Amino acid sequence: MNNRELIDKAAAEHKLSKEQLVSILSDISTDDYLFQTADKVRQKYVGDEVHLRGLIEFSNICKCNCKYCGLRKDNHYVTRYRMDIEEIIRLASDAKEYGYKTIVLQSGEDSFFTKEKMREIISELKQMDFAITLSLGEKTYEEYKAYKEAGADRYLLRIETTDKNLYQKLHPGMSFENRIQCLKNLKELGFETGTGCLVGLPEQTIDSLAEDILFFKKLDADMIGLGPFIPSYGTPLEKETGGTLIMSLKVMALTRLLLPDINIPATTAMETLSPNGRITALQSGANVVMPNVTDDEHKKNYAIYPGKAGLNNTPEEYRKTITAKITAIGRKISQGYGFHIRQEIDPL
Ligand code: 5AD
Ligand code: SF4
Repeated sequence: MNNRELIDKAAAEHKLSKEQLVSILSDISTDDYLFQTADKVRQKYVGDEVHLRGLIEFSNICKCNCKYCGLRKDNHYVTRYRMDIEEIIRLASDAKEYGYKTIVLQSGEDSFFTKEKMREIISELKQMDFAITLSLGEKTYEEYKAYKEAGADRYLLRIETTDKNLYQKLHPGMSFENRIQCLKNLKELGFETGTGCLVGLPEQTIDSLAEDILFFKKLDADMIGLGPFIPSYGTPLEKETGGTLIMSLKVMALTRLLLPDINIPATTAMETLSPNGRITALQSGANVVMPNVTDDEHKKNYAIYPGKAGLNNTPEEYRKTITAKITAIGRKISQGYGFHIRQEIDPL
C-alpha cells in the first residue's frame, strides 16, 4: 500500500502500525492529503464546533527542572509569581463574561497549592458553572482524588516523549514510570484525561513520534495536546534546533485518524511558529482552542518558551479575533462544555 492508501485506511479503520506511521511521517509528498483527511475525520466525528477553553496560568513557580522549559527551577531569569484565590476568581469571572464554559488552571509544579487550597479554588469555580480542566503536573493519587471530588472534570499531563531514555535525560529527578502511573490514576479516577508530546526534541526520532501516537491510542486518551519544541533562553537546550510546525501538524493529524472522536487543541506553540498556525491546525484535525485569559502582567512571566503567541492581546480582544477567524473558515464557536463524547467508530 502506498502512503495515500494508508491514510485512507487509517481514516476508515482508525488503526496504523508503527511502520505505517513512520512511513507517513517520513513522506512529505502526502502531507496535504493527510491534513485534508484528518479534517474530514474531525468533521465526521466531532463536527464543526470549536470549543474554547479559558486558560489561567496561576503560578509559574516550579520545582522541576525539565531541560526544555523556560520555567524550570534553575532558570533564574524568570520573575516568579503566584496568584491568590481572589485573583483567580476575578479572571474566571471575566472569562465567564466573554462566554467561556471551561476554565483550564495551569501552573508549574508548585507545592504551595496544597490539596486543601486546590479544593477551595475548584469548588469556587464549580459554583460558577464552569467545566474545570487542571494542568498541575504530577501529584499523588490522593491529591488527584481530592481534585476530582471537589469537581474537577479533566486533567492534562503530557507524556512529553515515550522514548524512556530521552524522557529520563530531559527530566532530571523525575521518573517515566511515575508519569505513566499518574496518567493511569487520572483515568481510574474518572477524569477526562489528556496527554501529548513535544515534537522535535533533540535526539527524538520519527520512530519515537510513531510510538507517541500509538501510546495515545493505547491510553485511550480523551484529549491530545501537542506542539513543536521551541528552544527557550536560560535552559540547557537554548541553542538546540526546535521542532517544526509541519511535523507537529502531521503528528496531530495522525492522532486524529487514530482517535477520531477526541478533543484536540490547536496549541499556542503552533501559533508561535506561524501567525496562522492555529487556524491551520483547526483545518488539519484540531477542534479546540485554549485562549489565555491571564492578565498581561502575569502572562508575560509565564514564559515556557520565547515569543509565546497571544502576548499582545487582551483576553477580550483575543476572544473577538479568534471568533472572527473561526467563523471565517466556516466553523462555529461551541456554546456547550465540550466534553469528550465517545462515538460509534465506523468507516467514512
Ligand atoms: N517548547 C514548547 N513547549 C514546551 N513545553 C515546555 N517547554 C516547552 C518548549 N520549550 C510544554 C510541555 C508542557 C507544556 C505545559 O508546555 O509539553 O507539558
Ligand atoms: Fe515545570 Fe512544567 Fe516547565 Fe517541567 S514543563 S519545568 S513541570 S512548568
